[in-house]
Amino acid sequence: MEAFRVERSGPLKGEVHVPGAKNSVLKLMAASIMAEGLTTLTNVPEILDVEIMAELLRRLGCKVEHDLTTATVTIDVPAKIGHKADYDLVRKMRASISVLGPLVARCGEADIALPGGDAIGSRGLDIHMQGLEKLGCHVHSEHGYLIVRAENGLHGANIALDFPSVGATENVVMAAVLAKGNSNVDNVAREPEIVDLCNMLVKMGAKINGIGSSVLEITGVEKLNPTTHHVVPDRIVAGTWAIAAIMTQGDITIHGVKPSDMDLVLEKLRDTGAEIKSVDDRLNVSMHTRPKAVDIVTLPYPGFPTDLQPQMIALNAIATGSSMVTENLFEARFRFVNELARLGADVKINGHHCLVRGKDQLSGAPVEGTDVRAGASLVLAGLVADDVTYVTEVHHVDRGYSNFVENLTGLGANVKRVEM
Ligand code: EPU
Repeated sequence: MEAFRVERSGPLKGEVHVPGAKNSVLKLMAASIMAEGLTTLTNVPEILDVEIMAELLRRLGCKVEHDLTTATVTIDVPAKIGHKADYDLVRKMRASISVLGPLVARCGEADIALPGGDAIGSRGLDIHMQGLEKLGCHVHSEHGYLIVRAENGLHGANIALDFPSVGATENVVMAAVLAKGNSNVDNVAREPEIVDLCNMLVKMGAKINGIGSSVLEITGVEKLNPTTHHVVPDRIVAGTWAIAAIMTQGDITIHGVKPSDMDLVLEKLRDTGAEIKSVDDRLNVSMHTRPKAVDIVTLPYPGFPTDLQPQMIALNAIATGSSMVTENLFEARFRFVNELARLGADVKINGHHCLVRGKDQLSGAPVEGTDVRAGASLVLAGLVADDVTYVTEVHHVDRGYSNFVENLTGLGANVKRVEM
């Protein structure tokens, strides 16, 4: 079993580059199958999930190449593609579900293995299904697969999502752009990664109005064309490096960022006492004292992202004062808090609230990184805990952070990947 061996490190200092967003590139790769021909994506992160999505697309009949030196993925989509996503891939990566909308749009049918629950919650698919049914799909489940058929093709519809779900918005939008007629989709998610997807669909020939707002007006087109697209920067990776700078009282310049996608995050980080300067695509984060505790409430964008909640709990665990962190997206995302408590954090969960009383010192121990963000947060905690911390289940971190250990050591952290 691989683990991260983390030693207490001094202030992290230096430069780090943020790649394209995991939660955008996977959907852009899925969207590529809606157009026959060669789609090129640049600024692609070097993460495990990109490889899993590439394998899924290959099984549908596409040729996929990932050039690590240029951070480019090319996807050559044939005239006829398969319509099945198998359990072995879907269970490894829940985002496989994002081929659903593109497959029904392109083939009129999709068989997708049901992903089941995962480490951060039960994660329903009802909102995806309700939207697709309105667009003319019949949906049922059989032998662990979701069987979706649009025998008479897709047609435009008025759809109001029960909740601004990221995944449901993406599937519904990708299906609607190739449906016959007009669709009005209300209460959509507004995450920067959704905006990125819509921008790429427009380049492919889709007609979408209202991008970035909570209502999208879509006029279906007959076909889409392949395109070239630069993936939006990963605001969660950028936030993780900023939090690392604050926790270790360091000074990090983060390159390749889109600060305007991080307004609330940067405001909260400034509230810790950090000095944050943003110039073009660069953020400089420096901290000279112990951070102040800050309250956090996770909400769909432009609210505070749930994907930075574990990192903020780690920060609050060593801050001066107490804080309340409220999680509104994933019911099991506090699971990692018990691991943080093994490092000596004073954390108390009550429903979807977590009370964190800051301590001046954590104490190294072996802990389990239960999901991608939990794993990263425990490493950050290990950097300021005394002695040595081992974080296991590192494959979760590899799913979302490219060159995690290399980037950390480049900033002066004492972290190694070891066999346990
Ligand atoms: N939900 C339903 N029914 C649905 C869809 C969603 O009940 O049909 C619920 C979910 O169970 C959850 C909430 O709505 O409680 C939010 O889910 P959403 O659909 O918005 O999230 P997602 O598409 O499954 C993406 C990201 C997550 C990120 C969330 C929220 C990808 C691959 N994943 O998930 O990223 O936390 O949006 O921003 O884009 C991560 O990167 O660590 C990660 C978990």
